[in-house]
Amino acid sequence: MRDPTGSVWRMAQTLSRGPVTGTAKPAGKRKPFLLDLYSTAVGKKYVMAITGILMILFVVGHMIGNLKMYQGVDADGVYAIDHYGEFLRELLYPLLPKYGALWIMRVGLIVTILLHIHAAYGLTVINRKARPVKYQSPRDYQIASFASRSMRWTGVIVLAFILWHLADLTFGWVNPDFEYGEVYRNIDATLSRWPVAIFYIVANVLLGIHLFHGTWSLFQSMGWNNPRFNPWRRWLAAGVATVIVVGNVSFPIAVLAGIVEHPGVS
Ligand code: HEM
Repeated sequence: MRDPTGSVWRMAQTLSRGPVTGTAKPAGKRKPFLLDLYSTAVGKKYVMAITGILMILFVVGHMIGNLKMYQGVDADGVYAIDHYGEFLRELLYPLLPKYGALWIMRVGLIVTILLHIHAAYGLTVINRKARPVKYQSPRDYQIASFASRSMRWTGVIVLAFILWHLADLTFGWVNPDFEYGEVYRNIDATLSRWPVAIFYIVANVLLGIHLFHGTWSLFQSMGWNNPRFNPWRRWLAAGVATVIVVGNVSFPIAVLAGIVEHPGVS
């Protein structure tokens, strides 16, 4: 029977959904569970890992799609990669309007990137609060690998690359030879400029370093870190990073070597 004072009832309610560790607040003022979890370091690590997995899938898919530039022209005389661009723009049409599915994916990707950055920033603040005085001993730095220490600046440079890349190949603002919808031509037009090609190569090597450490640590964040699987984790992290770097760096090299060449680009 219900306790007439209501105290047992309130206690049962509190116990039925205990607070996330370290964030106990008076009953009634508690945030929804997911926000409560996100306010902890563990929750932010989950968000980093899940958004990281989604972005790895995007980057791998994007690289595989870009391999179509090596297919040259299809039987109808149109570049295979231009067909692919058209396919993405018309995905699920007429179920959705043209560009509908593409915009859903774009918004999903933007939200994913923003969450990844927000969680990274939040974790940095938590770490700084936990250790207001910097490590005094140089030995501490040897424990962290080059990749783990460089996550912040490789992340910032990759973000800057993505913004520039959109202005270059999606909107054409920084690509004077840009022609809307002509993906093959636009790739040749931008990557045949040496400074741009070098920027793409450097940015993709930094992306590889970021992905190597990111793939490795997402297992830790998700709690999938049984030491028995460490060799697999290392192989997977190295495999993802290598596939992305080799694939993406091959594109500027192929343009500079004249393997990818559009007759309309001087
Ligand atoms: C050399 C490597 C790369 C090449 C040749 C390349 C090529 C392209 C091209 C041609 C487009 C425009 C597609 C279209 O309008 O139909 C594009 C869009 C895009 N790329 Fe890349 N890309 C490369 C690397 C990357 C990397 C490393 C990232 C992310 C880390 C990335 C993220 C994006 C994004 C977010 C878009 C916009 C997609 C959209 O909204 O339509 N790209 N890329």
